[in-house]
Amino acid sequence: MSLIASTLPETSLAERFRDVRRRTLGICKPLSPEDMMVQSCPEASPAKWHLAHTTWFFESFVLREFLPGYRLFKGDFPWLFNSYYESFSPFPEKKLRASFSRPSLSEVLAYREHIDRAMERLFEGEPEPEALRRIELGANHEEQHQELLLTDILHAFFTNPLRPSYRDQGTEGTRDQGSKRARVQENREEGTKGPREREVPLEFWRFDGGLCEAGHQGAGFCFDNELPRHRVWLEPFALANRLVTCGEYAEFIAAGGYSKPEFWLSAGWAAVKANGWRAPLYWRKEDGEWHVFTLCGELALAQLASAPVSHISHYEADAYARWTGKRLPTEFEWEVAAEGRPVEGNLLESGWLIPAPSVESGQNHGPAPLQNRSGANFFGDCWVWTGSTYLGYPGFRPLSGALGEYNGKFMSGQMVLRGGSCVTPAAHIRATYRNFFSPETRWQFSGIRLAT
Ligand SMILES: [Fe+2]
Repeated sequence: MSLIASTLPETSLAERFRDVRRRTLGICKPLSPEDMMVQSCPEASPAKWHLAHTTWFFESFVLREFLPGYRLFKGDFPWLFNSYYESFSPFPEKKLRASFSRPSLSEVLAYREHIDRAMERLFEGEPEPEALRRIELGANHEEQHQELLLTDILHAFFTNPLRPSYRDQGTEGTRDQGSKRARVQENREEGTKGPREREVPLEFWRFDGGLCEAGHQGAGFCFDNELPRHRVWLEPFALANRLVTCGEYAEFIAAGGYSKPEFWLSAGWAAVKANGWRAPLYWRKEDGEWHVFTLCGELALAQLASAPVSHISHYEADAYARWTGKRLPTEFEWEVAAEGRPVEGNLLESGWLIPAPSVESGQNHGPAPLQNRSGANFFGDCWVWTGSTYLGYPGFRPLSGALGEYNGKFMSGQMVLRGGSCVTPAAHIRATYRNFFSPETRWQFSGIRLAT
């Protein structure tokens, strides 16, 4: 197994397991059982399915192999909640997940408790190193699904005619809820009082390039697709000091960006025409004004003008970059620039759940989380599309067995995204982390960092 083992003692891994499991339930706390059945687009899964599938992972890859005498919770669950592991078992079509009215939510929650109790029995013994590696992988897998949960809920609520707000209903597992709500209110009340004046001016940081290294090294967890570390050659390049804002993207729209094929890749222009794209996924125009749907409900674009634009496809990111005379960074340029920087920013723990404005250091007004005030973060807010196709690194070897299907089999027709988003757990992201989606994907928290 090329997965790098955790260097944590078992007690710490047990605590990490418990924390991750608790937070998943916390994310679901504002949701009704009916909310948790919605699967509103092909990319999404119902929250109830996420709860069961993350549990299935520990049952299938840890308990069944490493806990002597473990008994399945239900005989059907191993295939029912398998996502895509062909060599593990057959599995239902993804689009059928919304039909899982059975098992009930209470049964799924009982499944979680059954697995959590079994995991505690495993921790009481002396799990072998391979079991510990699988538990670390399972915790990281569940963190991925925490992010997906929130991403999917945003889309589910967007499609609901009532346009409910997730965060106003209270969010467990985040800190300082009261003051955050106050800041949202502050943001809503500030309206258009010059938020653009506060944003960090767009600058480009220059990097020498040359012979560099990319890929994970050292102790600590990584996915197989971050290995092996290898050399890359980079010409001198420059990266923007912050992400492209909603206000800047609105200028692209106003300039006819969606009606001029010269800015678009051929496949991107075909997607614009086929899908009728005129703006990012959650933007809606009413009485000549754009509004943006968020996990805090619908906000006027004027309130988000200096916040990073999100929920755009790779094609839109690429077209915007071309319109500005710039380009998207390669994944290696981004990694070399981000390596060694602290994992700080508007990540899940901020509780903000919306890409937040970068505000110049020293200013103490505006809605941005404190972590964003330097304007220099490489992590959080939204994933940035890179110009790199998702391929295995030289010498890449997927994990052995069914877990080899985790990442490797998707290395076709997808683009790499870097940096995490406002719904990514901080413990989950790092400079070498490679996310990947097909270029037309818009349901993710995905945005733009320009390069030149
Ligand atoms: Fe999964």
